[in-house]
Amino acid sequence: MHLGFALTALAATVALPGATALPFSNWGNRLSSVSSSLGFKNIRSAQTCADPSLARTIVQGFSSLLTSHVIDFHYVFVNLNTAQGSQEAVLWSYQGAIFKAWPTQQSFTVPLFRLAKGVGIDYVFMVGPDAQTPPVLSGFVPDGGAIVAWVYDTPVCGSVPLMSAVFANQTDHYYTTDPDEHAGLLSDGNWSDGGIVAYVLPLTTS
Ligand SMILES: *[C@@H]1O[C@H](CO)[C@@H](O)[C@H](O)[C@H]1NC(C)=O
Ligand SMILES: *[C@@H]1O[C@H](CO)[C@@H](O)[C@H](O)[C@H]1NC(C)=O
Repeated sequence: MHLGFALTALAATVALPGATALPFSNWGNRLSSVSSSLGFKNIRSAQTCADPSLARTIVQGFSSLLTSHVIDFHYVFVNLNTAQGSQEAVLWSYQGAIFKAWPTQQSFTVPLFRLAKGVGIDYVFMVGPDAQTPPVLSGFVPDGGAIVAWVYDTPVCGSVPLMSAVFANQTDHYYTTDPDEHAGLLSDGNWSDGGIVAYVLPLTTS
């Protein structure tokens, strides 16, 4: 899917109006001079990866009142907690930073949607093909702003799997990029594998 998109984008570049007068044999030189003037050392990665320097940290919050985990940018939880006011309202505890993703749409990424069951009964995170097309999951509907971040839907560009674990008895979904943590939960007995949700950037990139 990403490669197809990249090839389409490249074809569109080559087909730019006004460039057709250039002899075909000159395209190699023309393309490499354009690439070097843009500072691209690796043409392939520049054309198939989103800019990692624009990715931001996503954290996981937990509400003991809802028995629900939710992933979002840290400021979202800060704002929710303060906006609640009342001590009897939902408070989100900070479970830790888990990965990096893009707060705005980037080339080669897809939207990560938040879907909700009822009012805070359960939340799941799934990718959709584009911003206008939320994924369909029985019993769930797109929640609030719905798009949490932009991620990859294939393991490209140094991304790692974002895995889901499900505690069905408590209608809770938990998310991690740590295979040991995922395996540990599954070994407990109450948790089952929710599969790979998306591909995201690790917190530290080498
Ligand atoms: C959840 O687990 C408890 C204790 O094991 C059990 O009593 C209850 O029926 C379970 N609920 C569901 C929905 O499976
Ligand atoms: C599984 O969950 C139920 C209900 O939440 C709890 O009573 C039980 O102790 C859990 N089992 C394990 C092995 O943690």
